[in-house]
Amino acid sequence: MSPANPLRQLTLDQLRRRTSMKWRYYPEDVLPVWVAEMDVLLAEPVKRAITDAAERGDTGYPSGTAYAEALKEFAKKRWDWDLAVERTAIVPDVMLGVVEMFRLISHRDAPVVVNCPVYPPFYQFIESLGRPVVEAPLSPDHRIDFAALDQAFARAGEGAAYLLCNPHNPTGTVHTATELEEVAQLARKHRIRVVADEIHAPIMAAGATFVPYLSIADDGLSLMSSSKAWNLAGLKAALAIAGPKAADDLMRLPEEVSHGPSHVGILAHTAALRDGGDWLDALLTGLDENRKLLADLLATHLPTVRYTPAQGTYLAWLDCRELGLGDDPAKTFLQRGRVAVNSGIPFGTGGAGFVRMNLATSPEVITEAVRRMERSLA
Ligand SMILES: Cc1ncc(COP(=O)(O)O)c(C=O)c1O
Repeated sequence: MSPANPLRQLTLDQLRRRTSMKWRYYPEDVLPVWVAEMDVLLAEPVKRAITDAAERGDTGYPSGTAYAEALKEFAKKRWDWDLAVERTAIVPDVMLGVVEMFRLISHRDAPVVVNCPVYPPFYQFIESLGRPVVEAPLSPDHRIDFAALDQAFARAGEGAAYLLCNPHNPTGTVHTATELEEVAQLARKHRIRVVADEIHAPIMAAGATFVPYLSIADDGLSLMSSSKAWNLAGLKAALAIAGPKAADDLMRLPEEVSHGPSHVGILAHTAALRDGGDWLDALLTGLDENRKLLADLLATHLPTVRYTPAQGTYLAWLDCRELGLGDDPAKTFLQRGRVAVNSGIPFGTGGAGFVRMNLATSPEVITEAVRRMERSLA
């Protein structure tokens, strides 16, 4: 029997008992549909991996390559891609992994190119590493603008790095094989190294296909994790993966980086990839329904808000510029409607007037969120 829709298992009362950021950052009267946590229970195999470890007292240091082996099997089945386990390393999480990759492939003050609007920690982590960020804005239809990327690469200069987000947060754009080939060509032309953040890769809408960057470019580095697709951000673990020509770079990863990931986290992430496929499929069906629901609700209640259902991620990027709420509509939604979405402003150039909504929740919460957004305009 396939699992029930994981997005319909929890009531608002149950969710409000949670102690994580999504549910504790704002006061109780605010409906949170912001940070990328999902309102789901754990997939059974993941829960079992954690409770079994607890029963064994198996809470020491990690060992072995089971996580990479599980990802290899998952990647073959879902994306028809052969991942080389020997070219992987376990890192504490995706963002810390990204930072380590920059240290390996570029000099200490080399700029990093990003496609804005983009996940705000891209700016924060790059800047705290002491590197300048060079923006290459996406096109109005949320795809990579290759003229802008070419210019940004030229500005960043030889030896810089490019942090590709695939699928892209916040727009949910899933880059095609043709686009990724063009990325690889441009990067080679400018002698810029590519690090791909592929954390959202398993979360595809019906009909969409994820293409791993390393299936296109043999000198790339990728970061993958079970954390988004199975809601395991609290169980720190991720994988850094090198293409054949980047294998020597990954070999130079300092040994102490492997001290960061959690052993129990690795067990949970591994179980998700190995045995959590049915649960993931049920989630993906639920997310397809939620994207459709949001489009219908907006058409009825907020028809000037522009929304294109995404091909990847569980995020919705809403163009609210016609609402007349200025650059930060999230502020009005919060203050007047008591609903928390992410402001578009921290996503960089192109974010003003937009908000990001998290659709990994029940249809009731999405309906109530739109009702609150509408109410904040009255
Ligand atoms: C594109 C992207 N990268 C990285 C992260 C954070 O991942 P981690 O907690 O593994 O650093 C997120 C979280 O939402 C994300 O959307």
